[in-house]
Amino acid sequence: MTDNAPRKPIRKAVFPVAGMGTRFLPATKAIPKEMLPVIDRPLIQYAVDEAREAGIDQLIFVTGRGKTAIVEHFDHAFELETTMKDREKSLEILEPTRIQPGNLVAVRQQVPLGLGHAIWCARTVVGDEPFAIFLPDELMIANKGSTGCMKQMVEAYNEVGGNLISVLEVPEEDVSSYGVIAPGAKHGALTEVTGLVEKPRREDAPSNLIISGRYILQPEVMRVLEGQEKGAGGEIQLTDAMAQMIGSQPFHAVTFAGKRYDCGSKTGMVEATLALALEREDMADEVRAIARRLLEAS
Ligand code: G1P
Repeated sequence: MTDNAPRKPIRKAVFPVAGMGTRFLPATKAIPKEMLPVIDRPLIQYAVDEAREAGIDQLIFVTGRGKTAIVEHFDHAFELETTMKDREKSLEILEPTRIQPGNLVAVRQQVPLGLGHAIWCARTVVGDEPFAIFLPDELMIANKGSTGCMKQMVEAYNEVGGNLISVLEVPEEDVSSYGVIAPGAKHGALTEVTGLVEKPRREDAPSNLIISGRYILQPEVMRVLEGQEKGAGGEIQLTDAMAQMIGSQPFHAVTFAGKRYDCGSKTGMVEATLALALEREDMADEVRAIARRLLEAS
């Protein structure tokens, strides 16, 4: 199914960042897990950079108690900048943290009722426009010379309209940790989505293609979320609300041509750190030598 109506551009992105990050305690006792760095950028910065690359400039953070550092990160830091200027240091490194006045909005998710509820908390700011969602735990890195995940999705959206989610294949034993799609017809990197189920038992999973944390959704999802019952884990699930939209609006999955790191897990963070360091000209040689030395000694 393709939507032939004129496409409204994707200008807004919702970042659900209210989670408590218990998997990374004690590191996340006083700082949000989205502020944990992969080398020298906090996780949230990677997601925001990916959004801006895709032409999205209105950022909506769904935060909670103890999460203000994320908003601070994207604010001007007067004392820091003045001191750096006095010392004739370049401010270029801070450029990605600069957001145009009015383009960052924080709303609070007052109770942890699940991802679907977090997205619903942004409904008045999203309004009547299609919008993107980024789960910052999922670090999506473009292949060299290629574009990021959301940019690839926006390009697909411009072709087919409707709703899109990013997917990737995981080993069958892992499907129960994710939202899983029932795949329909495939056209290149696009697969029609004929069903969606959140955290199925392995034997009930319709495929091993999982939702990997990037979405472009039509605003109608907010109305569906409004009446959404609790699902897997006793939480209001975004996947359940999306499942109800299949059939009435186009729904496609995009297989991202690039790499994905699960930074919701400790080993995923280690993998991401190492992989990105090995790609960086300023440190690749040194890190490669360190890794070799450590592997030989272990
Ligand atoms: C959420 C979504 C799930 C998706 C996953 C990706 O689950 O509900 O559909 O596959 O993110 O990381 P969570 O990790 O919050 O349990």
